[in-house]
Formats: sequence, C-alpha cells, structure tokens
Amino acid sequence: MLTCPEPAENPVLWPGGAKREEDGQLSFAGQKVTELAQRFGTPSYLFDLDDFAARAKTIASAMAEEFWEGYGFSGANVYYAGKAFLCTALGEAITKAGMGIDTASLGELTVALNPAMGADPQKIGLHGNNKSRECLRLALRSGIGRIIVDSLNEIDLLQSLSESENTTPPVMVRVTTGVHAGGHSFIATAHEDQKFGLSLASGAALEAVEKIIAAPNLKLVGLHSHIGSQIKDLASFQVAAERLLAFRAQVQRLGEAVPEVDLGGGLAISYQGEEVPTASEYARSLAASVKKACEQAGTDIPHISIEPGRWLAGPVCVSLYQVGTVKDVQLEDGSIRKYVSVDGGMSDNIRPALYDAGYVATLASRVSDAPAASCRVVGMHCESGDILVPEIALPADIRAGDLLVIPATGAYGRAMASNYNLVPRPGVVGLSRKASPRYIVARETVDDLLRLDIGAVGLSQ
Ligand code: LLP
Repeated sequence: MLTCPEPAENPVLWPGGAKREEDGQLSFAGQKVTELAQRFGTPSYLFDLDDFAARAKTIASAMAEEFWEGYGFSGANVYYAGKAFLCTALGEAITKAGMGIDTASLGELTVALNPAMGADPQKIGLHGNNKSRECLRLALRSGIGRIIVDSLNEIDLLQSLSESENTTPPVMVRVTTGVHAGGHSFIATAHEDQKFGLSLASGAALEAVEKIIAAPNLKLVGLHSHIGSQIKDLASFQVAAERLLAFRAQVQRLGEAVPEVDLGGGLAISYQGEEVPTASEYARSLAASVKKACEQAGTDIPHISIEPGRWLAGPVCVSLYQVGTVKDVQLEDGSIRKYVSVDGGMSDNIRPALYDAGYVATLASRVSDAPAASCRVVGMHCESGDILVPEIALPADIRAGDLLVIPATGAYGRAMASNYNLVPRPGVVGLSRKASPRYIVARETVDDLLRLDIGAVGLSQ
C-alpha cells in the first residue's frame, strides 16, 4: 500500500520548511496546520515563498554554472513558466534570481507586466498557439523581450500589427522537433500530431523562419522547443537539443545569426517521494547536449534559455483539507476500503482526474498509533471520478475534523482550479519565516460567483 513519506524521510517531496512538530502536527515555514486552518480555513493552498525563492536561486545558479563562459557558453537565462502558477507575490523571488517570466495568455501577460511584479518587460516572453490580437498588441506596446510564434498565420498577423504599431518585435519560432516526452499524452507537446509549434519534419519550421526573415517588422532572435512536461528522462532533452541545433545551423546557412535557443520547460518533480533529476543534473546534461550538438552542427554555441514552471512552483506548496465523511466500503474481494471525503477535490486539483496523476496524502493535524487502513481520498464534487488519491495508507482512526495534506500541488493546482458545483476556489496562503502568513491569492467567496450571475436581465417573459 502506498504511504506518504514524512518530511524528515523524504525532503524532495516537501516544501523546504516542512516539519512534523513534537505535538504531531505538520508545520510549514514554522506555522502549524491547525493554526493555519483556523485562520485561513480549508481547503487552502499553503505556499512556501522562502522555498520558492530558494528554488529560483538554485535553478538559476545551476544553469549559470553549467553554461559558464569559461566552458565556452554565454550564460543561460531561466524564464519561469507562469502557467504553473502566477501571482505578483512571486515577483520578488523571480527578479532576485535574475529570472524572466514566460506567459501564455492575456491574463498571464498582464500579471507579469503588473508593476507589483517588478519584472523587466525585456525579460518577459509570450507563447500561445492562438494568441489574441489584444494580447499581441499588449506585447508590442509593452516591448516584451520575445514573442514565440506558433503558426504561419500568426506571422502575418504579427507583421501587420507591428507595422501599425510601428515597432519591430523580437520573435522566436516554436519548433516541433518530433520528440515525444513526458507523462500523459495531453502534456507532451513536441510530437507531430498536436496543435503546438511548426514542424521540422514537414518543413513548416523553415517556412516560418523564411517568412519572418522576409517580414519587414519582425526580428528573428531565436528558436524554441518545448517537448513536454514532468520529464524524468534527460535523454529526451538531448535529442530535442540535437534536432533544434541542427536546424539552427540550417537557418544560419541562410545568413541569419539566431543568437538564442530556448529548450523549454518540462523538468520533473517528485509527487509521491520518487527520485527525480536535480537542477544540477538537468543543467549539466543540457549543457553537454548543447555543446555536442553545436560541435556536430559545426556552429557557434547560442545563448541558451529554459522555461521551467512545475519545478519551481510544484514542490513548494501543499493542499490543506479537512476530513468530513469517512465511509467503509466493502470491495468485491471482501476487503474494506475507507472513503475519506475532504472539503475540496477536483475543483482545486484536477490533475488526478485529468491525467491520472499520482499524489500521496498524510494526516497533518496529529499522529496516530492506529494501524494503517487502505484509504481513498475523495473530494466533495458530484462525480465518482472526483478522486484525489486512489489508494493510500492512512491511520484507521481517521475521522471528521482531521486535517489532511497533499504535497506537491503548487504547479497546475490553483492555476487549473475551477468553480465546478459553484465551489469557490481556495486561497493561496503565502508562508515565510520572515513574516506572518497571509493570502497571496485571496479565497474566492460565493459572493464572487454571484457577482458574475447577472440574471435574466429582461430576457424572461
Ligand atoms: N514552456 C512552454 C512553452 C510550455 O508549454 C510549458 C508547459 C512550460 C514551458 C512549462 O512546463 P513545466 O516546466 O511546468 O513542465 N497542466 C499540465 C502541464 C501542462 C504544461 C503545458 N506547458 C499538468 O498539470 O501536468
């Protein structure tokens, strides 16, 4: 039966500031879960801002070390992929680490450009396979550092918008390298039969490059590849780097410099205590791949950038729930499964239902000597598939009022939350050893939902 490792046993799974206190409670950045639950309610996302800042520094310095000038590189930039979870409270950590921000919608771009974020527009990128005119216009007017074009249509649109805005934006081409990597097929993004990027194999990538070169208002600054997400196998990045850098050599033969290559995000994190590559291992393998691929292609080494999202936000946050109903259900083989219902579910974490993503859960408000029981942690939604953890060992005396924690929910948790069953989305509580906890994203209320429900307004008879 799957068990949840304690913070002391397996720190990779937990935020840096996680601890089991002497009274049996879990604490995060020195804050005990019962106090947090009392003050902020449940469910809540508990987000360790100190750990986020530490991870930002770790990955930025791992990349700087491996892509050091002395080794023949010209440094490397890290762009935080805001789709994993973006709010202005992250700005300080991002800018202090010298990172940029990668955005993929008007909303993300607007948050990234918010002065409260403190980000330099030059260090903001914009992705998207179907960017709106409004979003592209904002990108042009705010002078962001890179627009990553994803289709031939977009090149025409961007050229005409740039001409009317009288600007010459730096653009990169999102190249589909044909490498299939990552967990679920929904999150793999560089195989051929999917919506992202311009294919190397079909020649669309080359056509895009030629179109950009011919476009008077567009400036080609680089090539981009993102092969998927939650990738544990570093060899996939190697193949993608080889293909992308060989393509760069081809583009250079057209007389273009192509100063930058972005190898995307996709670094895996631990969800259940499993081992994953460290930031240094990832950076070292990437640097070796880049060097080898440039040697093979007979070119100079471009400036490299990457776009991790999950790796930064995922492990620094846990979901805090309160147990309500506990129900013993007899299975066909006669055994008993305890259904432990919590006060959130698929609306605050859609990943198990959408991708079969595995998580673990632990009793957070106390420890217990009761024997382990086979439990299924389920949410409160009207769906039998509203399962957060299909099978996990929890103490047999688990009961209403207990607090449960699910680790590693910072990436694609709040970011993908919904209002299914008209459930308000939980708030994100920012934790730091240097200050008292406070919301960094407020809890939604039923009033927030009602505000959007404007009634029949004259449509009814
Ligand atoms: N760059 C681009 C162009 C991307 O499309 C993505 C993720 C990233 C960077 C960041 O990837 P990361 O380092 O976070 O793996 N909702 C899914 C993940 C979708 C990722 C989409 N693109 C999940 O919950 O697993």
